[in-house]
Amino acid sequence: MRRREIMRPRPSASNKTSVPTLLRGFLVLLLGFSIFTVWGMSFILHSSTQNHPFSHSAVQTPPQTFTEPVKIAHVISLITCHRADRVQGFRDALVILRHSIHQNSVHHPPANSRYSYQMYALVHAEGGCDAQLPLLRRLGYIPLVYDTPVDIQSVNNEWYRQHVEGENCCGSKEFIKLYAYTLTEYPIVVHWDLDVAVLKPMDDLYDAMLYDRNSERGRTARQKLHLQRPQYQTLPDRIDAFFTRDITSSAPWEAVQAVQGGFVVARPSMEHFEMYRQFILEANYTKGRGPTSGWGGMGYGGFQGAMAYQGVLAYFYDQIYPGHAVELDVCRWNQVVADVIWRGPDHMEHHGQCRQFPPAGVLPENNTAEKGLCQDCRILPVDETYTVHYTACKKPWECLLPTPRNPRDKRHVYRLKELTNITTCGLLFRQYFNYRQEVEQLLAAHGHKQKHYEGSFHPEYFMGYCKRAGGYDPMLSIPEDFDLKMIYGF
Ligand SMILES: *[C@@H]1O[C@H](CO)[C@@H](O)[C@H](O)[C@H]1NC(C)=O
Ligand SMILES: *[C@@H]1O[C@H](CO)[C@@H](O)[C@H](O)[C@H]1NC(C)=O
Ligand SMILES: *[C@@H]1O[C@H](CO)[C@@H](O)[C@H](O)[C@H]1NC(C)=O
Repeated sequence: MRRREIMRPRPSASNKTSVPTLLRGFLVLLLGFSIFTVWGMSFILHSSTQNHPFSHSAVQTPPQTFTEPVKIAHVISLITCHRADRVQGFRDALVILRHSIHQNSVHHPPANSRYSYQMYALVHAEGGCDAQLPLLRRLGYIPLVYDTPVDIQSVNNEWYRQHVEGENCCGSKEFIKLYAYTLTEYPIVVHWDLDVAVLKPMDDLYDAMLYDRNSERGRTARQKLHLQRPQYQTLPDRIDAFFTRDITSSAPWEAVQAVQGGFVVARPSMEHFEMYRQFILEANYTKGRGPTSGWGGMGYGGFQGAMAYQGVLAYFYDQIYPGHAVELDVCRWNQVVADVIWRGPDHMEHHGQCRQFPPAGVLPENNTAEKGLCQDCRILPVDETYTVHYTACKKPWECLLPTPRNPRDKRHVYRLKELTNITTCGLLFRQYFNYRQEVEQLLAAHGHKQKHYEGSFHPEYFMGYCKRAGGYDPMLSIPEDFDLKMIYGF
């Protein structure tokens, strides 16, 4: 496809101009506000809708309409860029995410993947990210600049309008992530947070979406999927999305769980994109938390990200377009290495139960790890992990181990002590820095200056890239004339 960056107006009529605001020359990077907040960088990738008509005929019989190797669009979003250049690890995260995708693609034969990829970055038009566009291109990301796809000012629900901008990570601006659905010249799009890495090929997911469930390849892929609570899930005839739930932020008595926004695999669809815009604009949203809160007054409220991306995804796949999405095993996919058991300090009658609501027919007291209703992600071997999301573990470039905080409210000590597992996190940091080392070796092989890293902070995990606690040693800058095309070929 052509590389085009287009300042794209919001697709519907709106009295708000789509002309970009004056960009100030600094970037604001929104980092997570809590350990479970995904890194709110949104580079919006989008290509011109003129290039891909709204026709859905292409997705009905995908294997015939896409030539091998099939390219998957991998998308990140960059929403605000204040001082991005000063946020250590930002550029490295872009490089390492791409490398981890590359190493698990058809371009790295030992991985045995059949799929190719194209990186995209959705960039919010008002985020002050202009200065990052050349860097994105050099790292192989096609930047697509967008305004928020919904004109929040014209939303009729005053409470929602007044509160959405306070939602993690970045208020309504986060909705630019929905533009991933508009990349309809790709059969599948994956939207990522930046604090992630791919550790194993994702072919089973792609095959299960693209090949008929009765075909050999489709059947095999479906059998190999790692589902959350497989004994209670029925696979749709046609799978249009995969995700994990935000189990760590759920409570055993709450029937609705957010979709964890750091990892969403979806079949692009202009129709779906419009459906999201429509119901967000209607903003049938009730304040508060609990079974009558949030979207549709159906319990999609109050949790992290409920008013924004994490809430609308859950509402869309559960209520607006049910029966087409698959919830993946939260340990093997989007692995955050966090406790999935309720440990208070409130509602101690639920202590020891899975944080995820029991499936229909299971009593709360039977909703436990012992009865197989949840699994301890904190001890999952790293080699069984498909994708990792560094939240509970902290970001690799923070150069810290996730030692329990010492909370002011002592009732939280026990819960925080159990929150994650330092060894597992450390081993996952090592995977991250292995990728970094591979990129540096590739750069060196292409004549790029190589530096020796001897940082003494837990070198068994951080491989010399951390000089001390909190002291990240970033990759040498990639010179203006250097393009990762030179090492990857595209
Ligand atoms: C909000 O959504 C719920 C659930 O779909 C529906 O019953 C209710 O009528 C809607 N309210 C408005 C004002 O549209
Ligand atoms: C579920 O709980 C009930 C009551 O506590 C118990 O009698 C029953 O054996 C449990 N069922 C299973 C499958 O463990
Ligand atoms: C942490 O995980 C490792 C495996 O990565 C396991 O051997 C160890 O027992 C776990 N530690 C705790 C305290 O659970």
